[in-house]
Amino acid sequence: MTILANLVTPQLEKIHSGKVRESFRIDPLHRLIVATDRISSFDNVLKTPVPGKGAVLNSLAAFWFGKTKHIIDNHFVKLIDPNISLVREAQPIKVEMIVRGYLTGSAWRGYAKGKRVFSGVTVPDGMSKNQPFPEPIVTPTTKEESDREISPKELVEEGWVQADIYEQMEAVSLKLFAFGSQFLKERGIILVDTKFEFGLIDGKPVLIDEIFTPDSSRFWAAEDYEKDAQNVEQMDKEFVRAYLMAHKKDGQYPDTLPPEIVKETTHRYRKIYELITGETLPPPEEDVQHRVYLNLLKHGLIKPGFVAFVMGSPSDLEHAKKMQKTVEDYGIYSELRVVSAHKNGERIPELLANYNLSIEPGAIIAIAGRSNGLGGALAANAAIPVINCPPFKDKIDMMVNLNSSLMMPSNTPAATVIDPKNAALAALRSLNLPWLRARFQEEIDRMKEELRHADEQLR
Ligand SMILES: Nc1ncnc2c1ncn2[C@@H]1O[C@H](COP(=O)(O)OP(=O)(O)OP(=O)(O)O)[C@@H](O)[C@H]1O
Ligand SMILES: [Mg+2]
Repeated sequence: MTILANLVTPQLEKIHSGKVRESFRIDPLHRLIVATDRISSFDNVLKTPVPGKGAVLNSLAAFWFGKTKHIIDNHFVKLIDPNISLVREAQPIKVEMIVRGYLTGSAWRGYAKGKRVFSGVTVPDGMSKNQPFPEPIVTPTTKEESDREISPKELVEEGWVQADIYEQMEAVSLKLFAFGSQFLKERGIILVDTKFEFGLIDGKPVLIDEIFTPDSSRFWAAEDYEKDAQNVEQMDKEFVRAYLMAHKKDGQYPDTLPPEIVKETTHRYRKIYELITGETLPPPEEDVQHRVYLNLLKHGLIKPGFVAFVMGSPSDLEHAKKMQKTVEDYGIYSELRVVSAHKNGERIPELLANYNLSIEPGAIIAIAGRSNGLGGALAANAAIPVINCPPFKDKIDMMVNLNSSLMMPSNTPAATVIDPKNAALAALRSLNLPWLRARFQEEIDRMKEELRHADEQLR
């Protein structure tokens, strides 16, 4: 797929899902931030993602983190994939440091109604829409359910941040803004306004989140601004917003974009990236999901595949653990889950949501003996292989209950393997991974050699 609308894998723990980005826990000191191709406009996530947008946003933030290190330390550790950064975990300061160079957007709307004080900053009378402020201003908001404008004094009084830390944040925000403005100006872009976030690492404020991306900043093309300052639009979203506004129906914006608008938006994001960084982007990816898979693998953040052991009851644990050992010996991720088809089968879709669209290959081993409804319920809903390995007390138990594993309704492709070791090996083979195939081939060769040797000895 050319799109990364979502990163799905059972191997990483998702700790946050925003409108556009997803965060995963790596260890207590690190997280992964994944910029997806989702796009939001008028505060709404559209149903049509924009191919390449996530890569542009994440790679651009990485670029800026490198360029601004001399001003302030930041959380960035490594680019894992164009869409993904590994960052240090910080204790986030719940304040958005908004810096504005121009009177526009929500500030302009307030100003037009007579408002002159923004987060404690008084701005001059007589300004017009999109006019630059005499000096850039910092207008912080709190980060809560709905962000709230707040003065630095109140931020400290309400306990959002310590006074000395806030002073550093404000000074740094202005320095960053000046740096970004100058850098972009040389490339024909006006940095209109932007937002920074800070967090504490070892008690010191560092820059976190993202920096100078089209999602955290407003960019105007200097050329457009000179032509018509009052009607200039954001370089990245102009196109999308114009389409949405032109197709508003019954007071509602559309929630999808037609292919030609998506294509043009991709093109615009890519152009912004190239304009800012001076680097040429490789042609759009054919299979982003696969690239992400290989990059996560390369950095040791995931194993090449997974096998999920789904048990009908916790009493099946011993049976599952025998197989789990084999799976792990082959370097494959495994997880143990309990869900009963008969008792809480409603949880099956939720369980499969993490498997069906995962970036890595996976398989399920269903473990339920007497009246096995689990394998069937899983197989009917799973997009990955399901293998029944029912546990039996003895041969009689097996003869009585085996049919419930063997006889499946139509379109319920569960296979059944009785021996636990064989079931684990069948699941591993079903992953069809090149690394595992090579290893199995070696094992097959060895087995043949041993048989040949045994035969020779006895002849
Ligand atoms: N290094 C870090 N350590 C801890 N938290 C971080 C770090 N970097 C970013 N964050 C936090 O992670 C979250 C990223 O969220 P994201 O921007 O994806 O969604 P959101 O801010 O909740 O919502 P929205 O989609 O509206 O922006 C933010 O709350 C941000 O403060
Ligand atoms: Mg955010």
